[in-house]
Amino acid sequence: MSEQIEADRFRRAMGRFPTGVTIVTAFDAAGELCGLTANAFSSVSLDPPLILVCVNRATRCYRAMRESGRFAVHFLRSDQQDLALGFAQKGADRSGLCRWTYSHNAVPRLEHFDTVIDCDLRDAHGAGDHAICVGRVLDIDSGGEASEPLLYFEGQLIPWAA
Ligand SMILES: Cc1cc2nc3c(=O)[nH]c(=O)nc-3n(C[C@H](O)[C@H](O)[C@H](O)COP(=O)(O)O)c2cc1C
Repeated sequence: MSEQIEADRFRRAMGRFPTGVTIVTAFDAAGELCGLTANAFSSVSLDPPLILVCVNRATRCYRAMRESGRFAVHFLRSDQQDLALGFAQKGADRSGLCRWTYSHNAVPRLEHFDTVIDCDLRDAHGAGDHAICVGRVLDIDSGGEASEPLLYFEGQLIPWAA
């Protein structure tokens, strides 16, 4: 961290920008399910369809994304706070946190999500301790009507309240 901006100040300021919450999943070289909770997600381009997620390069999930070259992004609903916390536990096994299947794009797909995006890892740009992972969208599963989303603001997971 630069001498001028301490980590806490940076974290506090970033926390004032409200976001949704995602879970990113990928298989590692041994075929194990890896995944992490991530709020640094954005749409990038319509043509071709690209998204990005900023992933800490020290995570198992980042290694799995690099190894398999593919990943899936799941948008969390208001009632999925437990999963957000479960997939944020460093070093913990992910396979028992919820039911999951193999998507036809060979990425791990968690069950009971309204919106899931399967991606090819197009680029991984190093940016400090993270990488800006750009995904080329292969498929979108976005079911029926959107449920109320889970939000992240000032360090808290907050259910949507319209
Ligand atoms: C609400 C929330 C948002 C998070 N956003 C990110 C993120 O955007 N990128 C990231 O690398 N880690 C993020 N994390 C931290 C990871 O989920 C956490 O480090 C995870 O345990 C890494 O998993 P792994 O090392 O097993 O792959 C977030 C955690 C929480 C609770």
